[in-house]
Amino acid sequence: MPKLTIDGKEVEVADGTNLIQAADQAGIEIPHYCYHPGLTVVGNCRMCLVEVEKAPKLQIACNTRAADGMVVHTKSDRTRTAQKAVLEFLLINHPIDCPVCDQAGECKLQDYYMDYDAEPSRFSLGRKNKKGKAIDIGSDVMLDQERCILCARCTRFFDEVTKTSELAIFQRGDQCRIDHWPDRPIDNNYAGNVVDICPVGALTEKDFRFRMRVWYLHRTPSVCGGCERGCAIDIYQNRGRIYRFKPRQNPAVNSYWMCDEGRHGFPALQSESRLTTPLYQAKDLLLAESWSDALRRAAARITALGQQFGAPAIGAVIGAQATNEEAFALKSLVKDTIGSEQIATLSWSPPGASGDDGLLVRANKNPNTRGLSALGLAPDRLDALSNAVAAGELKMLIVMRADLVKALGEAEFIRRFGALDYLLVLDTDANEIGQMANQLWPIGAYPEIDGSFTNFKGRVQKISAALPPPGQALSALEAIARLGHALDGVERPKTAEAVFAAMAQQEPAFAAMALEALGPHGRDLAQS
Ligand code: SF4
Ligand code: SF4
Ligand code: FES
Repeated sequence: MPKLTIDGKEVEVADGTNLIQAADQAGIEIPHYCYHPGLTVVGNCRMCLVEVEKAPKLQIACNTRAADGMVVHTKSDRTRTAQKAVLEFLLINHPIDCPVCDQAGECKLQDYYMDYDAEPSRFSLGRKNKKGKAIDIGSDVMLDQERCILCARCTRFFDEVTKTSELAIFQRGDQCRIDHWPDRPIDNNYAGNVVDICPVGALTEKDFRFRMRVWYLHRTPSVCGGCERGCAIDIYQNRGRIYRFKPRQNPAVNSYWMCDEGRHGFPALQSESRLTTPLYQAKDLLLAESWSDALRRAAARITALGQQFGAPAIGAVIGAQATNEEAFALKSLVKDTIGSEQIATLSWSPPGASGDDGLLVRANKNPNTRGLSALGLAPDRLDALSNAVAAGELKMLIVMRADLVKALGEAEFIRRFGALDYLLVLDTDANEIGQMANQLWPIGAYPEIDGSFTNFKGRVQKISAALPPPGQALSALEAIARLGHALDGVERPKTAEAVFAAMAQQEPAFAAMALEALGPHGRDLAQS
């Protein structure tokens, strides 16, 4: 473990740590463009030059390993002169695009210019090189060649991570430019990551361009619900609308990346089909009602069926889109309050959905299949439930985040569950099973709720509400707690933290965990 001194601060780092990382550990920023911790080091931008005592020349921090006894200066006159020179060089041909550039507000050229240079230009505007602007280079990515600083992060990403190598640097000298190979535009499911790692406004996202200035966006760390990988993400929203998902680093799950499918998953979550009010069926129509009427109606039906046929007449199907807390709360309601063991789960992926790609994407499009099994909810109980319906023992189902009609097909659903007396559905959309429900309750989608998902490797990660559910929709935890109260008058925990605490006490797989203590990278299940 080498010990070195950076700007007078002593720091001990792991073997192999470079000077950018070592300085970071000491709370010191070394500006850099081409270095990215998820890619190989190329050392081509020279922005990270620092002074290392006893070295004859300035050294690039990204490609210099911390060594025992090293003394490094990141703010000396020599370092500052080099930083200014590099910025001046990078800006000679940079267009004056900041007012119209989508990267403004999170651009490393702007930031470093203000922090490390702030000198007026010595070059005339008229002599700037002209290169291609707003070039569609495939997928969701637009290229502005004039803004590119040739750091080669994008080319390395496609060479090293996706191994699709669509981009390269063409030409020589000040004519160098990024482009795709002839007739080979970007065509892979991870293209959005190059927009994230481009340190300037050269690569922008077609979907996001000119839609919102980044300084108006609010960031909430959460987890993608697109598949059982559960990539760590940041949700960016403004005034109740999501504008983008970006990957958040989690070494235990997704490194620095996410797939485009997950990245573009949010428009469906704010579509016109979202439910905004509780509905009940009357003469084949779904009519709106208040939550108090909806709760009274459902509780009366559960009580009546329980009295007439016994507790096992009421059951539940929990979809693997549900959080750990939601599954635990509904399981507890059905088992402990109602007294029935009739619980099944559904972990269904649409036919034709993308399969495992060996990188991040998983064929199972449910974020919490593993969480449900960790709660002891076996995946193979659906047959037992339909047999109980056929035997006249099961009369009512509470179905949460599980579109059985879509999964089984309408005819098969009716064959297996058509004899049910009552169907209470908790979901985000007026989906296929919702159309058949006696009652349909609107609940929050995953960017609108707190809780946790357990990914396929058993990593439990916290999800956080970036915005409230639409209209009168509630978090499923609130709806379940209110239903429990309507049944027995007992108050139940409604927040994800409180439900998680109860779950940690009762479920061995979550023992000794707390939602808030999961941290940004989550924790592995205690056992499962
Ligand atoms: S397009 Fe962006 S990431 Fe690619 S080389 Fe240019 S500046 Fe770097
Ligand atoms: S791999 Fe799965 S979890 Fe990760 S971003 Fe894609 S869909 Fe979301
Ligand atoms: S970050 Fe070190 S040379 Fe670019």
